[in-house]
Amino acid sequence: MSPDAPGPDGPAQAALAALAQQVQGCTRCPELAETRTHVVAGAFPPGARLVVMGEAPGAQEDATGAPFVGRSGQLLDLLLAEAGGDRARTAVLNTLKCRPPGNRPPRPAESAHCRPWTEQQLGLAAPRLVVTLGLSATRWFLPRTALGAVRGVVHEVAGLRVLPTYHPSAALRGGPRGEPRRLLAEDLALAVRLVA
Ligand code: URA
Repeated sequence: MSPDAPGPDGPAQAALAALAQQVQGCTRCPELAETRTHVVAGAFPPGARLVVMGEAPGAQEDATGAPFVGRSGQLLDLLLAEAGGDRARTAVLNTLKCRPPGNRPPRPAESAHCRPWTEQQLGLAAPRLVVTLGLSATRWFLPRTALGAVRGVVHEVAGLRVLPTYHPSAALRGGPRGEPRRLLAEDLALAVRLVA
């Protein structure tokens, strides 16, 4: 999508909502379909120019059906706000729409099953920039890459601008003065500037 892409408009919003309905009934991953409480399709506020992409729903997201509402989501909201951004104007989704039991990493087959949903969402959302949080989301665009090799820099992938950075869970693990939190804050500030 071009840098001046406007984000989802009325028809795209309707298509995103229809897609979110469709994904609710997905059974491509039998184990996840069996164990999930909610499918977490993602949040796409009208006109959002920035997409933030994580790995998979955690326990709180599975319980509520909304993405990034647990501790990682709260830190994301705080750092976005400190960067001059606003979660209410930011689209948020995950590579996987269902929580893997016990928060285990997504299996390759699960990632492959979910990929077409995410591809359609990104096509409809038409963001100016996608921020990928952590290795899973980054490898969705840049397979086999190391996060340290690509973070903090905008990459052009299949017509989208992609900015890899740390996952908020790494920032939580590293503590308030740790490097992951500092770099995540720095990268979110860059993201907010790039979509302004
Ligand atoms: N971690 C993620 O990657 N996504 C969520 O929605 C929550 C936690």
